[in-house]
Amino acid sequence: MTFIITLLALVMVNPFTPANNELSSRDKVEIVIESNDQMKFNMSEIRVKEGDTIVLTLKHVGKLPKAAMGHNWVLLTKDTEMGPFAQKAVQARDNEYIPADGEGTIVYTDLIGGGEETTIEFEAPAKGEYVFICSFPGHYALMNGKFIVE
Ligand code: CO
Repeated sequence: MTFIITLLALVMVNPFTPANNELSSRDKVEIVIESNDQMKFNMSEIRVKEGDTIVLTLKHVGKLPKAAMGHNWVLLTKDTEMGPFAQKAVQARDNEYIPADGEGTIVYTDLIGGGEETTIEFEAPAKGEYVFICSFPGHYALMNGKFIVE
């Protein structure tokens, strides 16, 4: 999947394809969000523009291992409710707490432990307000924020 997205991104930024002029002028936005051993993200709100290519890096600046204090960054679809989603996610231990087929999500990172980081690249969804969480058991109540597409 990542490979396909990368290929699409390459096609979209190809300056030699006249039909893609509009797409190639779009910005690539880098976002770095930190998470820690206190079960917190360092951002409660992220703002981007529709159609932006987002390069998002999640850093775990703590020391605790993944099994005890794992963090991921999960962007939920607009019609996904945080609480019920998180309850489903708890049961998906074998899939790093992501429900099967990523149901209810737009995109998500790997689950990481202290000292690790992980990066994903994706296209910003349609204008609107979305919610991001960490889906590790018990974390979403403290680890959530708004992802606003303008
Ligand atoms: Co977490």
